[in-house]
Amino acid sequence: MEKPKFRTPSGMHDILPQEQVFYQKIYQAAEKIFNFYNFEKIDTPILEEAEIFSKGIGESTDIVEKEMYTLRTKGRDFLALRPEGTAPVVRAYIQHGFRTLSQPVKLWYFGPYFRYERPQAGRSRQFWQFGIEVLGEKSPVIDAQVILILFDVLEELGFENLILKINSIGDENCRPYYKKALLSFLRPQRTSLCSDCQNRLKVNPLRILDCKQEKCREIISGAPQIINYLCEECHRHFKEVLEFLDELKLPYILDPYLVRGLDYYTKTVFEIGIEPKEGESQVGSLAGGGRYDKLVKLLGGVDTPACGWAAGMERIIELMKLKKKKIFSPACPQVFLAQIGSLAKRKSLKILEEFRKEKIKIAESLAKDSLNAQLNRADRLGIKYVLILGQREAIEDKIIIRDMESGQQVTIKQNKLLKEIKKRLRIKK
Ligand code: HAM
Repeated sequence: MEKPKFRTPSGMHDILPQEQVFYQKIYQAAEKIFNFYNFEKIDTPILEEAEIFSKGIGESTDIVEKEMYTLRTKGRDFLALRPEGTAPVVRAYIQHGFRTLSQPVKLWYFGPYFRYERPQAGRSRQFWQFGIEVLGEKSPVIDAQVILILFDVLEELGFENLILKINSIGDENCRPYYKKALLSFLRPQRTSLCSDCQNRLKVNPLRILDCKQEKCREIISGAPQIINYLCEECHRHFKEVLEFLDELKLPYILDPYLVRGLDYYTKTVFEIGIEPKEGESQVGSLAGGGRYDKLVKLLGGVDTPACGWAAGMERIIELMKLKKKKIFSPACPQVFLAQIGSLAKRKSLKILEEFRKEKIKIAESLAKDSLNAQLNRADRLGIKYVLILGQREAIEDKIIIRDMESGQQVTIKQNKLLKEIKKRLRIKK
């Protein structure tokens, strides 16, 4: 193959025709479950004012500090390619006055997101997420239901042995006490932290718990745990979330150092993944989320509690391939229309229309003239019945049905064609 002059930008990928089936399958599985739970779909623009992310996700997070694609428009607006979906949904909730609707408002979304990360397995610069957000309800039953829906979607896709890691990171009342305790623990070990974390110590010490560097992870493993610093309200909330999960028999692991990479969370945070077996590569968490009770207010709305999660398509697909999950391709056509001669070609378009109206898939190679070439193509597609419309059949309003397995052929009247094909394909009605 010659070396192409232009390629996709680093960390970005084409979704080729053979990959589309994965996206369709995941989309359909998610949509089915979201519909059942009465979620409504929302699409927000790919570009947003950068400020909703710097304010919402946090100035000192990796996403905002290092990974956001930003641009200044000719009109001097400062925009960002959306790195995540929660802040845009919150912006929409405020902008369209969703507060006046019956609460909670339950929304779902699906689309491409952008982060300037170092491309590697499970990490792209353009990736696809689908997710849900429930706005306007503070009860812990919502946290549990949101988690249940995540399990539902992943189980619908055939995943087993899912591991949910969960933690509570408190709220504005109790977190400052924890931060203090964490600082007292980390300060004496400052010089052993990575340079990023030495900086985080000053601006956002909680982020250190999220650092992936080995030397930092070692230090963190002895750090005080936020769970011991939760105020009464946060403690009660977390306890109830766990009780709901127990009731639902959803397996979880308490991870006292799980904080997630976004600053808007309050109380419950969680991530879900599959522990890789030996020799399997780690693709990272499949989905993550939590409660974010202060984000609506932070972005200029009325104080509104909320909770949600987002899942990464690429990681799910990678695991589906790794685990050789059976993916059913979209119903392949079992019928092929071959034509010979100009009258037959003209009549073919009408026959295809009749199949479309009856919702029966049919393939063709209208631009090809040779019967052999058309039969070869039908063979490659694994077609069961080829319809042959020759010059004579076209004049006599007849058509040949050829069974590709047995090689048997019959000629029938065209007005009997659909009935005969339905009978052979066992299509009722
Ligand atoms: P997040 O953990 O940043 O959360 O992303 C959610 C999921 O998106 C991850 O678990 C992962 O599967 C996928 N993902 C993230 N970055 C990449 C990447 N560079 N390449 C491939 N996949 C990636 C959020 O975005 C929050 N908005 C989730 C949320 C919704 N919280 C509350 N509501």
